[in-house]
Amino acid sequence: MILDLIPESTRAAGLGALMKGAGAVTRALPIPQPALLVGPGSSRRLAQAVAAFGHARVLIVTDAMIAKLGLLDGLTQALGEGGAGYAIFDEITPDAPIPLIERGIAAFRDHDCDALVAVGGGSSMDAAKAIAIAAANPRKSLRSLAGYFKGLRTPMPVYAVPTTAGTGSEVTVAAVIADPERQSKLVIVDTRIVPRMAALDPQLMTGLPPAITAATGIDALTHAVESFIGQWATPYTEGLSLAAVGMIFANLRTACRDGANLEARETMALASTYAGMAFTRANVGYVHAIAHQFGGRYHTPHGLANAIMLPHVLRFVAPAVESRLARLAVRAGLGPESERDEVLAQAFIDGVEALNRDIGIPATLAALREADIPELAKAALHEAHTGYPVPRYMTQDECEQMIRRVLPRDQPAAAAPDAAEAPAGKPAARKTAARKAPARKSPPRKAAAAATDTAPTAPRKRRAAGAA
Ligand SMILES: NC(=O)c1ccc[n+]([C@@H]2O[C@H](COP(=O)([O-])OP(=O)(O)OC[C@H]3O[C@@H](n4cnc5c(N)ncnc54)[C@H](O)[C@@H]3O)[C@@H](O)[C@H]2O)c1
Ligand SMILES: [Fe+2]
Repeated sequence: MILDLIPESTRAAGLGALMKGAGAVTRALPIPQPALLVGPGSSRRLAQAVAAFGHARVLIVTDAMIAKLGLLDGLTQALGEGGAGYAIFDEITPDAPIPLIERGIAAFRDHDCDALVAVGGGSSMDAAKAIAIAAANPRKSLRSLAGYFKGLRTPMPVYAVPTTAGTGSEVTVAAVIADPERQSKLVIVDTRIVPRMAALDPQLMTGLPPAITAATGIDALTHAVESFIGQWATPYTEGLSLAAVGMIFANLRTACRDGANLEARETMALASTYAGMAFTRANVGYVHAIAHQFGGRYHTPHGLANAIMLPHVLRFVAPAVESRLARLAVRAGLGPESERDEVLAQAFIDGVEALNRDIGIPATLAALREADIPELAKAALHEAHTGYPVPRYMTQDECEQMIRRVLPRDQPAAAAPDAAEAPAGKPAARKTAARKAPARKSPPRKAAAAATDTAPTAPRKRRAAGAA
């Protein structure tokens, strides 16, 4: 990759222009939006619609837990009543690996299916999207489908019923699957794998355990925040991001504490979808870049990895996006509009940390090893700097120091002794890190905003918009 040959200092200056260009190139790319059914019982209504569309047999892609909890019952009954046949593939595991997706493709063919209904979290939805494109392009391996628009033929139709409120995969252009041989994640990006219809049914989410509710909820928050502070934000995505942030701050605590609260569940589901619509166009940033490395190496659940890193990355980017963080703070109900941006921006970072603490997100990553940090940082920066319109450039050293802050306490950090001592949710020097760091060579906000307009996904590397 040519970026690797450019010295870090020069790269910082060139990055903004590169990303603006990428945004401009893809500005015209239309991203379809699924029809949304929202509210208790909407998964049944989706099944009725699928049957009415005339599909002969659909493959329901899900995981064993969803099937065991009976969450498929209303949906399968409605399919049957509507005269559509179905087969159930309930083997999906978190971050579904290639061999599992291949079994799903075989099931799709063996049962002679003509569409897919994903019922589950991001792992089931992404598996269904991957099966959909692979089944339509039988000569291509899953690895060769990773990247942008790699399938020649239009994927089979996908319908989505999310059972977590986090990934937004029901509206995104991406499918993330695991490549166990290479210990990495693959991302298939194609506007044609966006589901045709999605049902946000809070009744299916009441049994989601608090820890998964918390982690997936912060995944949605991270989508909303990173799409809002990145250089590809547009008026359209900004509105979605702001709405999602407000809804998450107002409802995530309740959803974690009182899982049966249908209103909180439904609002979280909508927030996750809004955040998905925002980031599939405006992309994500350093939080996701680092979280993906934790996921690839330690199998850390995606939402948890994001949640642990979010406050640290916000503190780092704050000098470049103070007024943006201030707007988020106001929308999150953390301060009045009349307050100074600097105070509001800090209130937002503190608010994210307080939310994390209240819903039981740990401040450190138990699996993290000091010896892995340089490689993790290198891979994260490569991902970010080749795919994400980040608001402020981060060096290898800065990234390593940031990751060190989340080392478990029994592993003293070699280069940042203060951080290892930090109590949960209160990393050492947190008030000063963002404020004192000199603003770097990211483009000025105004220029960045002007450059974004309606910029959607850039067809660049494997990891990109929607790949969160
Ligand atoms: N395509 C995208 O745009 C996108 C965006 C973000 C994340 N992702 C990917 O999504 C995956 C993570 O998805 P996720 O966070 O939704 O988790 P997940 O799908 O892996 O599910 C996590 C766990 O929650 C359980 N679960 C799900 N719904 C439940 C319910 N209603 N009740 C009880 N248990 C339930 C599942 O059985 C599973 O054990 C990762 O692979 C990530 O990379 C994709
Ligand atoms: Fe994500």
